[in-house]
Amino acid sequence: MGEPLLARVIPLLDHRQFAERQQAHSHAQSLPTGEVRDRLQRPLRDLRISVTDRCNFRCAYCMPKAVFGSDHRYLPHSSLLSFEEITRVARQFVALGVRKIRLTGGEPLLRKNLEELLVLLAELRTSDGNAIDLTMTTNGSLLARKARALKAAGLNRVTVSLDALDDHVFKRMNDVDFPVAKVLEGIEAAQAAGITNIKVNMVVKRCVNDQQILPMARFFQGTGVALRFIEFMDVGSTNGWNMDAVLPSEEVVRTLSKHMPLMRLLASAAGETAQRWGYVGSDGQHAPALGEIGVISSVTQAFCGDCNRARLSTEGRLFTCLFAGQGVDLRRILRNMTTRDDEQLASAIASVWQGRSDRYSQQRSCVAERSSMPKPEMSYIGG
Ligand code: GTP
Ligand code: 5AD
Ligand code: SF4
Ligand code: SF4
Repeated sequence: MGEPLLARVIPLLDHRQFAERQQAHSHAQSLPTGEVRDRLQRPLRDLRISVTDRCNFRCAYCMPKAVFGSDHRYLPHSSLLSFEEITRVARQFVALGVRKIRLTGGEPLLRKNLEELLVLLAELRTSDGNAIDLTMTTNGSLLARKARALKAAGLNRVTVSLDALDDHVFKRMNDVDFPVAKVLEGIEAAQAAGITNIKVNMVVKRCVNDQQILPMARFFQGTGVALRFIEFMDVGSTNGWNMDAVLPSEEVVRTLSKHMPLMRLLASAAGETAQRWGYVGSDGQHAPALGEIGVISSVTQAFCGDCNRARLSTEGRLFTCLFAGQGVDLRRILRNMTTRDDEQLASAIASVWQGRSDRYSQQRSCVAERSSMPKPEMSYIGG
């Protein structure tokens, strides 16, 4: 009688598994993990993922009604990256140095079951074992309903867009008759759900909502919410951008300082978009209880010098600049490969980042360079 069947079969399987493990190990060794730097020595730290190109608002500076009308064709569902695909890509980004992931859109809360994606992303760990800073930019319209579920799914913090406190002005900005009160309800719900570090982003357009700067600052002072004033940018090609409509951040700070004394604060992280200003208390020092504001001066004081942000579009294209004409198709790599082969993905991301030299906002004034650059819409690549 020969050997029992099991004894004969097991060594063969073991051998195959060992060979596979060895192969996987050599892949792991050749994975371009660890930090990558671009051609200007900027590390990759921040990944912004657009989860939908749809939005229920029609802010003229982003998705003007005339262009994004009822006949606008959005991406079909099959084009969007699935949550599993997004997570796989995000994992590679984290291995290459990403510490912060922001979900954007369009309006991210329009993507069904978004909590499921948050759960997956919250499990990612950096090489030193830390959780990532997981956040989201939302217009707040659905936040009251979803805040608790988002918090439970792992959302650490949230940024809400709100361009005015006055209903009339706000409705003119969102162009869908959406009331301020509902956004404020969303912010309160986020606070009540225990989401700390809430920010409010206000895009300022001269002669449209600039009279709202002071009321907004007064409203949010001392609430724990950091209000940030953003210069209207020439992003995309549909928002009719014009320098006359840009209110320089310097003017915002000057206006506010007349009523509410401010002092410059140190940056809280390298490559930050906002310049921070703290409210000064009666002792002449920054009073943390009064809070802070931020100004984001992408037009008048570009911050490309230490830009560490990558953007993943709704359909899986990687953009290394908000103004980059073309993205690199990661979805094609994702959908072509075998389940274990993440090496290709990591290599593609690393080499795109290493080849990057974008600094559009710094070059904005250079007409020749500017006119040759096609610009994607912000709702597509993610704010
Ligand atoms: P925090 O981590 O909370 O500081 O967020 P953030 O400021 O990095 O991201 P957020 O989405 O809140 O950015 C605020 C605004 O800054 C955006 O809506 C854009 O108007 C602008 N912005 C963000 N990133 C960039 C960028 O890389 N380039 C330029 N030019 N503008 C940017
Ligand atoms: N200029 C500046 N910020 C913009 N956003 C969208 N379009 C523009 C623009 N043209 C940003 C705003 C908004 C977020 C979703 O995207 O901060 O709150
Ligand atoms: Fe929607 Fe935000 Fe764009 Fe307004 S700025 S249209 S809320 S994605
Ligand atoms: Fe970064 Fe491009 Fe924005 Fe400059 S313009 S800060 S390079 S995304």
